[in-house]
Amino acid sequence: MAKKSGADQRMAALVSLCKRRGFIFQSSEIYGGLNGCWDYGPLGVELKRNVKEAWWRDMVMRRTDVVGLDCSILMNPRTWEASGHVQSFTDPMVDCLQCKSRLRADQLENNQCPVCGTKDRFTEVRQFNLMFKTHVGALEDSSSVAYLRPETCQGIFVNFQNVLSSTRVKPPFGIAQIGKAFRNEINPRNFTFRSREFEQMEIEFFVKPDEAPQWFDHWKQTRYQWYLNYGIKKENLHLRDHEASELAHYAAGCVDIEYDFPFGRAELEGIANRTDYDLKRHSEFSKKDLSYSDPEAKQRYFPYVIEPSAGADRGTLAFLTDAYAEEAERTVMRFHPRLAPIKAAVFPLVNKDGMPEMAEKIFADIASEWNCFYDDKGAIGRRYRRQDEVGTPYCITIDGETGKSNVVTVRERDSMKQRHVGMTQLKEFLRERLSGEKEWEA
Ligand code: GAP
Repeated sequence: MAKKSGADQRMAALVSLCKRRGFIFQSSEIYGGLNGCWDYGPLGVELKRNVKEAWWRDMVMRRTDVVGLDCSILMNPRTWEASGHVQSFTDPMVDCLQCKSRLRADQLENNQCPVCGTKDRFTEVRQFNLMFKTHVGALEDSSSVAYLRPETCQGIFVNFQNVLSSTRVKPPFGIAQIGKAFRNEINPRNFTFRSREFEQMEIEFFVKPDEAPQWFDHWKQTRYQWYLNYGIKKENLHLRDHEASELAHYAAGCVDIEYDFPFGRAELEGIANRTDYDLKRHSEFSKKDLSYSDPEAKQRYFPYVIEPSAGADRGTLAFLTDAYAEEAERTVMRFHPRLAPIKAAVFPLVNKDGMPEMAEKIFADIASEWNCFYDDKGAIGRRYRRQDEVGTPYCITIDGETGKSNVVTVRERDSMKQRHVGMTQLKEFLRERLSGEKEWEA
């Protein structure tokens, strides 16, 4: 059997930790799973929620020029005719004539089947539409066909006038949405990276056509910096401009934010200049005018759209990968405190001398604000290691000193250093450090 490369080993170790510690499980695993579908376990759901909340806070709440939206997954099928997906949301597909595997024609290396190794023996290339089809209502005929949305942004375009007329926004402004998207990928692969069901975090930012280049630049920088702000190492993050031949049918320009995953450098997020393609197409297909009437300039125009489109699952996978470190004595997840699934763990040193009662009180107090963990089992060193492995930034131990001097021992994940903190100051101490306001030592 071929030996696994270092990168493969690293990926295998991460996947194994994800399962063992409850970050990510195979979907419906007891039935053999379903290819391209994944479930987030007790820690994974916290991590992914924190990623989405950080995005929403920074991209919607903290900005005066972006509002939110939450659209249905099923939409009128005309949406997908207008968007161009029925016609051209396809991947080129071939079958291996030897082992019958179904493969993406554009991902074959040296025209060789990645499953059985056979060379040059494939069917003709066919175009395969990636949208999942279903039927709405009791009749299963062509009149009831609907699609699971393959991207969240179309819900934003079709609500453009609703948002304009119900709020006081005007270009330049954005509409943001987080939600599920579905693509019947021919080859789901690389853990959650290419899934058939995934979540997107998208902003459609509407601007005057001649201002599109400067807003494209703004979003390119803003989104790149966002990943760095949450701890992604700069050397692992890259911007890549698309070649003209790579551009989607609606885009005048696109830049990808790429991350160095163990399986190679790959797209985390795309920032595209979608021009006025979508609003014009929906106007044409719906016969509703989606142009914007500018009261100051006394003119009507179709805004251009700058679209930062990120994957919540790919982002989560990048944060997991970047945080993962194997050290001499421990495996540690160096999550940014804002993303860490558990913010603090509380340990009574021993289960006597009033320590459990004090620990439970402290836990109840801090758990009202953050996701915390209580552990009273096993040696203290082992309890620290278990928390390191899931990236808990702070462990709080209630020991002999607590009863005597009202102090707890706080241990920091990264430096493994410890210090005493007064019980009454504990919440503020954690708040300042979890928010990044203060350093550990301060
Ligand atoms: N509205 C534009 C759009 O959907 P895209 O590049 O096809 O553009 C945007 O997708 C992002 O969605 C990607 O950068 C990626 O993070 C995520 N994404 C796309 N397909 C995915 C898949 N099969 N599995 C996981 N994430 C995916």
